[in-house]
Amino acid sequence: MLIKKGVILGLVGAVVAGTIAIAGGHSGNPAVKARKAHMQLYAHNLGILGSMAKGEAEYDADQAVAAADNLVALATMKQMSYWPAGTSTEDLGEETRTLPVAWDPANWDDLMAKSAALADSAAAMQTAAGSLEGVQASIGALGGACGACHKVYRQPMN
Ligand code: HEC
Repeated sequence: MLIKKGVILGLVGAVVAGTIAIAGGHSGNPAVKARKAHMQLYAHNLGILGSMAKGEAEYDADQAVAAADNLVALATMKQMSYWPAGTSTEDLGEETRTLPVAWDPANWDDLMAKSAALADSAAAMQTAAGSLEGVQASIGALGGACGACHKVYRQPMN
């Protein structure tokens, strides 16, 4: 039984390693994919709150609180492994929009501050999301925290 388990785990390991090799070889850098996926999750959850704030979607307290909870969880995840050296626009071209300035040690404090600002505004939204008025009052600061980082560290769309 133990041996079988070992064989199965070994096979799973091989499959996982194969998948990583494929991801690295064909469809881009895995760290870049991970950070874009993380950003897409931000956008999805912010979008739910944003459309309620604007009245494009009907306010639903459960959905609003869930989206705010997700943003808090995402904003407090450890993300260091998404940003290895050698993965800027200068290194990878169109595959990424992260500007080289993000790797300048002089900017690390600022990056930390911008990440902390997002976590703070997500926490404020979490507290407020139980009412439409709360969502409307908190959405500006939340979206602003995303934009403040993009303005400095993300290459604009062409
Ligand atoms: C600390 C900096 C920072 C914060 C805060 C931040 N972003 Fe980003 N975001 C980036 C960078 C850098 C990129 C470019 C990623 C790449 O292409 O390598 C990016 C890319 C994106 C993308 C494009 C992803 C793709 O698939 O190409 C979306 C969408 C996005 N961010 C949404 C958000 C939203 C919504 C928030 C706030 C809830 C947010 N971001 C907060 C830095 C940040």
